[in-house]
Amino acid sequence: MKRENFGSQFGAIMAMTGSAVGLGNLWRFPYMVGVYGGAAFVLVYIVMVFLLCLPILNSEMIAGRRSQTNAFNAFRVLAPGSRWKWVGALMVFTPLVVLSYYSVIGGWSLEYLYKAVCFDFTAMAHTRQELDGIFGSFISSVWAPIIGHTVFLAVTALIVMLGVKKGIESFGKVMMPLLFFLVILIAVRSATLPGAGEGFAYLFKPDFSKITPAVCAAALGQGFFSLSVGFGIMLTYASYMDRQAGIGKSSVLIAVSDTLFALIASCAIMPAVFSFGLSPEAGPSLLFEVLPFIFSQMPLGGVVALLFFVALLVAALTSSISILEVGVAYLVEEKHYSRRKASLVIFAGTWLLGVLCSLSFGPLSDVRIFGDILFDFLDKFTSNILMTSGALLIVIFVGWKMKKDDVRNEFTNGGTLSASGRMFSPMYFIIRYLAPVAILVIMLSNLLS
Ligand code: TRP
Repeated sequence: MKRENFGSQFGAIMAMTGSAVGLGNLWRFPYMVGVYGGAAFVLVYIVMVFLLCLPILNSEMIAGRRSQTNAFNAFRVLAPGSRWKWVGALMVFTPLVVLSYYSVIGGWSLEYLYKAVCFDFTAMAHTRQELDGIFGSFISSVWAPIIGHTVFLAVTALIVMLGVKKGIESFGKVMMPLLFFLVILIAVRSATLPGAGEGFAYLFKPDFSKITPAVCAAALGQGFFSLSVGFGIMLTYASYMDRQAGIGKSSVLIAVSDTLFALIASCAIMPAVFSFGLSPEAGPSLLFEVLPFIFSQMPLGGVVALLFFVALLVAALTSSISILEVGVAYLVEEKHYSRRKASLVIFAGTWLLGVLCSLSFGPLSDVRIFGDILFDFLDKFTSNILMTSGALLIVIFVGWKMKKDDVRNEFTNGGTLSASGRMFSPMYFIIRYLAPVAILVIMLSNLLS
């Protein structure tokens, strides 16, 4: 089968940045910062991203572009006849679990867009308690969140079905910069609220005693989630890259913009949290409870809210599409399904799991798995266990199974990229030794704690 490639390096980087930047940056990162103790988490996160996640991202891209095929087949192509193909299977399975609960949050964003369209967040329309109550009763209700989840997932499946590339990519090119601009605007408003300084101190003045193994594990998990590494997404996308593109440079661009997004989103949220006297430890509800207050406090807040939730949805969609694409690429190329059938099959499976996730905030909140409701369990299980194992296996594969010369060739485009040439040795060292050991240690401490 003839495979499609990205049109340009810019297009490739944009698609990967689109996959990376999503709810993970705007919704998950700020609440993780709150749950895991503020600046200590931020600091550990940045170290984890550049020390570990970046080399792992490189490994995935190297395996993807070298093999020029989907996540499952990549391991068969690169290591024929070995058991590595089961790793490929894990890489196809993990994203689907992520998608089921990702889509639930996508549905919440949709509901909030609807509220923004109704200008629900304009000044004085609501008191703080009222807004809190609105979110709480919304997510614990039965139908509204399920409808949101269904619509979000259906749109994702539809776009993938139609063959993503053109529409969503060009849409993303406009919407990502817009989102960036809006988040900065909201951050500025947030920074000028009374008492905002406390929020900045919370974000940037680390209390080193808060750095525990649990914080390190959570930061690494967040890094995987946010950069979309640890299973086949970046591998699949890199397989659509042409041979001229530099893997090293692209991955640095992706990591830097992803991290900037997460930091600015936190600067938009945390100062406001402190200014309004909210608790930073609110968990998943943080974004949805805090931002509406900020909107109600700013001139033209209603309009900004509208633009923000549109952009948030687009960011979420460019990510959810990338998640679904992994499974579809597999079913189409390996099982010879049509794109349409593949999208439908995956839609059905993830929809069902997503419905259960959504209900776990309400009617099913008594069903606990290791003490967590299903939603929290899946979130922790995928980012702390599945993605971590995926990442571990990827670095072992690239560091120990692939030939060093092949890895070097792919990373330096056959020696033509001199900067990548200089970076190769330290990066290879991290991939081969540091990353596997660090990931193992973190996984073990995670299991034991
Ligand atoms: N990285 C995206 C975000 O930050 C989410 C995402 C895209 C993702 N692809 C993924 C998460 C694969 C886990 C696995 O929102």
